[in-house]
Amino acid sequence: MKLFIDTANLEEIKKANNLGILDGVTTNPTLLAKEKVDPIAQLKKICSLVKGPVSAEVISQDAKGIVLEAKELAKIAPNIVIKIPTTSEGLKATKELSSQNIKTNLTLCFSVSQALLVAKAGANFVSPFVGRLDDISFDGMQLIKDIKLVYQNYKISTQIIVASIRHPIHFVEAAKIGADIATVPFYVIEKLLLHPLTDIGIKRFLEDWGTLKKTNIISKSKIKK
Ligand code: E4P
Repeated sequence: MKLFIDTANLEEIKKANNLGILDGVTTNPTLLAKEKVDPIAQLKKICSLVKGPVSAEVISQDAKGIVLEAKELAKIAPNIVIKIPTTSEGLKATKELSSQNIKTNLTLCFSVSQALLVAKAGANFVSPFVGRLDDISFDGMQLIKDIKLVYQNYKISTQIIVASIRHPIHFVEAAKIGADIATVPFYVIEKLLLHPLTDIGIKRFLEDWGTLKKTNIISKSKIKK
């Protein structure tokens, strides 16, 4: 499963990228607004940091406006993917953009029927929001399972980006289902690697090594640390 970071914050992107495990970035108007800087300039900086797909969302709601905005956003960098809300106007725009080879990520997807239609419109990615479904007592992960099944039934190539991830279990469940991508906020990425037994294990190994060092046996060995 590919790992995207869900943020518009450059420091977070740099930190995740430095781990060498980052495959892409998703942004949205809320995340860009948080940064309080020019969004286009920020997207340019993000695209220069990360080689993989970087999603930039349109604000327009009508198909014509979405297409025009998408073409402008696509000029930012070759790795820009246009994020479009899952609406009837969004579908029309997606069909048009797909015929022009402009990549799209259909966002705010909350049902299998929506996911099937966006695939038919030629979307490259679909973003079902698991956390926001959980928030209203629907099973977000069940939606991912269902979309995966339907896409498999018809050999659909639209990639599933599990979005609105709130904790590591969402990430693990997404991988168990076989989702293509998980887009994860930085605070969750940090938690993915943590395990108290790893920390306890390192502490114990170092203590035991220290004990061995005191015996002088280690000074005769080639490994002297
Ligand atoms: C996805 O692309 C969205 O940017 C994001 O995952 C939304 O997450 P939220 O529900 O935490 O705002």
